[in-house]
Amino acid sequence: MKEKLLRVFAEHPGQFVSGEMISRQLGCSRTAIWKHIDELRKNGYELESAPRKGYRLVRKGDGIKPHEVKVALQTTRLGRDITYLDATESTQIVAHKLAQDGIGEGHLVLANEQTKGKGRLGRKWFSKQGTSVSMSLILRPDLAPQKTPQLTLLTAVAVVRALKNQTGINCAIKWPNDVLVNGKKLVGILTEMQADPDRVHSIIIGIGINVNQRMEDLDPDIQDLATSLAIESGNSFERALIVAAIVNEFETLYDHYLTNGFEAVKTLWEMYSISVGTYIFARTMREVLYGYAKGITDEGVLLLEDEQGKVHQIYSADIEIASQR
Ligand code: BTN
Repeated sequence: MKEKLLRVFAEHPGQFVSGEMISRQLGCSRTAIWKHIDELRKNGYELESAPRKGYRLVRKGDGIKPHEVKVALQTTRLGRDITYLDATESTQIVAHKLAQDGIGEGHLVLANEQTKGKGRLGRKWFSKQGTSVSMSLILRPDLAPQKTPQLTLLTAVAVVRALKNQTGINCAIKWPNDVLVNGKKLVGILTEMQADPDRVHSIIIGIGINVNQRMEDLDPDIQDLATSLAIESGNSFERALIVAAIVNEFETLYDHYLTNGFEAVKTLWEMYSISVGTYIFARTMREVLYGYAKGITDEGVLLLEDEQGKVHQIYSADIEIASQR
């Protein structure tokens, strides 16, 4: 109901909408409307009410609740069902449990705060209360396990495109899936799966975005390396709209990928990538390699040509850009 109410206001930006009209569109009583308006106010929305004029939305809240996301969702399958948590250790953990219990493709887990966010390679991910996006999307594609890195790359492309549409900010991708602005990390993507050797049961795509943090909100250890949308632009952003934009973009790319394969995603990924066509250091578990990043394979593996001309296949590493092309 709250989602429908927000849709009505979205259709009349800055205008009063009469109680009668709202009650007709929502098919509920004036008293019920008043209750929903009251709840929105409690969620941080500023709503003006005037006798004989009705209600006007003055300022939206900065929540990340399902109805706030759904109002901007244009998907048919993904993100239609949402588990929302005010605070949780990690949306990945919640999503894994839901997936194990058999929840369907497209289910989305959102949290306003994570207390033990998981990063890649066993690292921590900080998501301060009320300032960031922490989301985990459950997928159940009919895919061989070795193809799942392609979905990580697809996610990075979806995020870059959604952030451009929603905020106007141009981001770049650092292999495999760091999304950067001005060389600093804005988004982290963690792909995990539940699978047999030859069959994927579920893939959990975790996305963490620094949205409205100020510099002092970021962990001191990462202040030189990380940034937020607010730091980069001086504006604050509605987190729910960012979530919806990402899921919308993701579904379009995902559907195309499932039907037509990886080629289009690969082309887009290379377009947004700052790792390809440059000299890089690749820190793998075993060694540090230096060389020219030639491109990625259809499996999302990074190809690095060292100074002796030998081409290395990099499956997992931290990348540092040594110089531009
Ligand atoms: C990285 O190391 O760059 C990946 C970070 C991924 C963070 C996101 S936030 C939502 C989801 N839940 C987690 O615990 N981690 C991912």
